[in-house]
Amino acid sequence: MEAISVFKLLGFFVIFTHLHLITGTVTYDRRSLIINGERRILISGSIHYPRSTPEMWEDLVIKAKNGGLDVIDTYVFWNVHEPSPGIYDFTGRYDIVRFIKTVARNGLYVNLRIGPYVCAEWNFGGFPVWLKYVPGISFRTDNEPFKAAMQGFTRKIVEMMKAENLFESQGGPIILSQIENEYGAQRKSYGAAGKAYINWAAKMAAELNTGVPWSMCKEVDAPDPVINTCNGFYCDTFTPNKPYKPAIWTEAWSGWFTEFGAPIEQRPVPDLAFAVARFVQKGGSFFNYYMYHGGTNFGRTSGGPFITTSYDYDAPIDEYGLIREPKYGHLTELHRAIKLCEPAFFSSDAIYIPLGQRQQAYVYEGNGNCAAFLSNFETEFAVRVLFRNRHYKLPPWSISILPDCKNVVFNTAKVVSQTSGMQMVRTGSRLKSWESHHEDISTLANGPSLSSFGLMEQINITRDTSDYLWYSTSINISPSETIIREGRKATLTVQSRGHGVHIFVNGRHLGSAYGSRETTRFTANAHVDLQGGTNIISLLSMAAGLPNVGTHFESRDTGILGPVSLGGLDQGTIDLSRGPWTYKVGLNGETMNLNSPHGTSFVDWSRVSFVNHHQQPLKWYKAYFDTPKGNEPLALDMKSMVRGQVWVNGQSIGRYWTKHAKGKCSPCKYPGAFRPGKCQTGCNVPTQRWYHVPRSWLNPRRNLLVLFEEVGGNISRISLVKRTQANVCSSTFEHHPTISNWQIESSGETSMLRDTKVRLQCGIGQSISEIKFASFGTPFGSCGSFQHGTCHAPNSLELIQKSCVGQESCEVMASNDYFAMDPCPNVLKRLLIEAVCSIKPN
Ligand SMILES: *[C@@H]1O[C@H](CO)[C@@H](O)[C@H](O)[C@H]1NC(C)=O
Ligand SMILES: *[C@@H]1O[C@H](CO)[C@@H](O)[C@H](O)[C@H]1NC(C)=O
Repeated sequence: MEAISVFKLLGFFVIFTHLHLITGTVTYDRRSLIINGERRILISGSIHYPRSTPEMWEDLVIKAKNGGLDVIDTYVFWNVHEPSPGIYDFTGRYDIVRFIKTVARNGLYVNLRIGPYVCAEWNFGGFPVWLKYVPGISFRTDNEPFKAAMQGFTRKIVEMMKAENLFESQGGPIILSQIENEYGAQRKSYGAAGKAYINWAAKMAAELNTGVPWSMCKEVDAPDPVINTCNGFYCDTFTPNKPYKPAIWTEAWSGWFTEFGAPIEQRPVPDLAFAVARFVQKGGSFFNYYMYHGGTNFGRTSGGPFITTSYDYDAPIDEYGLIREPKYGHLTELHRAIKLCEPAFFSSDAIYIPLGQRQQAYVYEGNGNCAAFLSNFETEFAVRVLFRNRHYKLPPWSISILPDCKNVVFNTAKVVSQTSGMQMVRTGSRLKSWESHHEDISTLANGPSLSSFGLMEQINITRDTSDYLWYSTSINISPSETIIREGRKATLTVQSRGHGVHIFVNGRHLGSAYGSRETTRFTANAHVDLQGGTNIISLLSMAAGLPNVGTHFESRDTGILGPVSLGGLDQGTIDLSRGPWTYKVGLNGETMNLNSPHGTSFVDWSRVSFVNHHQQPLKWYKAYFDTPKGNEPLALDMKSMVRGQVWVNGQSIGRYWTKHAKGKCSPCKYPGAFRPGKCQTGCNVPTQRWYHVPRSWLNPRRNLLVLFEEVGGNISRISLVKRTQANVCSSTFEHHPTISNWQIESSGETSMLRDTKVRLQCGIGQSISEIKFASFGTPFGSCGSFQHGTCHAPNSLELIQKSCVGQESCEVMASNDYFAMDPCPNVLKRLLIEAVCSIKPN
């Protein structure tokens, strides 16, 4: 507020000069970012460019804009941009300049979170794996080799942005950047060196002279001029480290990430809206949904280990780029309500007025504007409060927003947006000409391979060029061993640091084992039929995404580090760990690019007979399919397979794993503090069954599908599905002339935003084919299981059918006029509708 009072004292001329001087700059004070002299409440959403395709970007940005967003936030993913030192890739999904220009073209700003550590459930937290092998390096601390590399990449990105005039100071969209990421969580373990590193990082960034502010999230000590910001499910108690910095929330978690074997975490939108309103009511002027569109971890980009290929995140726009209701719609209304408060919001500081034990008002008033936020923190019951001589009923765990200090235009708990149920339906497109190729393991002993005495760390050898590393050794067994003579089995025990292993002895697959989400370490046991003479032990160790978080996560080991032992011999158990081992990186099929259209011709494939098809590990499959008509997003249903990777026309769809989710999927009540685990869905079914196939990767005909399956499965049941809207539900209350009700709020005042219309909207290319339920009266229940109440207008269904069936969307009124009757005078009535969406008949 310092600057503003100076303006007031010195008058118009000074303001004019000042504005002139700051044109093309972004500054800040304790209330907000100031862009070209203007203050705005900035609403932002994370969309990570490599997690969708360039062909999807524009649509995502337009949806974000229509959802009321001002800013798109993205990390910069170092490891995809610099796959080897000095070799850069900014093409296709990695074309960050094109992404930012797409945002700019649609009139939105950008928060560029360079990091270059990004965490993000992304492989190795965004660091290139080669970085680990720079001599003398230690990540994220006061270490010269690391700092040199970090500065090099940060400067590279900044120079690239400058060359394209993308900073706001150059007339571009970037208004804020981030250096480092969530360092605070690790701060203690890095000690004084950590402090020195953070000071260095801040100075290094500031010296790049971007003309826009820098931020550090979750780093209380962020040195000036860097703004420290908050990440979390709630950030209303956050205060920046200096009184002249604004409250910025860089990650308002809209959901949570998913791990193979775990259920899907959902964050109910009334709680998310409540969290955002809590932040804004206390003066927060910039918040960002992490994620607004989560997207897909294509290829081998997911971190973890064991992060799913889907990065849906329960975001307002789903993995496939479709709007998720009611999340998207409810937040859109929240944003509109917040924007109505903007003039008042910047005309004063928040005035706090307690309204009850757990009820509060925050009021902004000045220059003839007034806005108020009324909150109720009770989790069990609604509370009636008195504010400026009016009564307001606040639902539990909610905030009502009054942009004029009188009328409630929005309450965070009252979701009136349509709810949409999505479904995956089979397309007519069949996968045909299936052929298979068995990964040849007989040649393991030959070929160029590395050997050593003792076991070696996996990533050191693979440099993450493949998920796979073969560990092989041989052991001579005397024919006079008791177990050979008696035909009994020996026991092979393999201890691994992660993430999975497939055990082969003398070419036979004896079993597979995996680490868990809790610990990547595991021990695998296999019962082995040994033969007299030489026995070959071949262990295929598998990495499933490198760690992305934790103190010095880069130094965590992967692979078989032993002990590996063989028990049941006459001499007892022998330790094979220190013996001779040979290593082979990757699969033969990978070396030959079997996944790509030209690579498939290098080997012999055999026709797959579904009848005699038996499960075999380490198998490559290929098939062809034509692209289904329409523009619904497509996916592969991989439920009948076990584990592997899948490609379409040479593009990697990602890792698949049919692992059933264990968790607690009881119904969840949103009131009360949210945490992961509170609202889980999808227990006891595969965590991920569908894998997004972007339409832009397809040709109209003969698309090549290749998959590598580690364990086995039934390929004949893989299918191509499309994502469509199954049903939509919508509800609203009537405006009742006399009944004071808390659904419409504010003593029967007409609401400014909400009307009494119910709107139903089907997905692209769909229309309403059926009305499953419609009742004007006192119906109740949730979408999919609505029920009539004691009051019901008998013509409800017929009227709604007439207005809606055959339409792409329709609007009907919840009013006595529309239904030409009042089924129950003096009762507040609502209208509930469930409609079915189907592909529009041609
Ligand atoms: C990495 O591999 C090299 C040989 O390629 C070996 O000399 C070195 O000891 C290994 N380092 C680790 C940490 O395993
Ligand atoms: C694979 O699935 C097909 C179709 O459901 C079925 O007919 C066949 O028996 C299955 N094969 C195996 C080996 O389970």
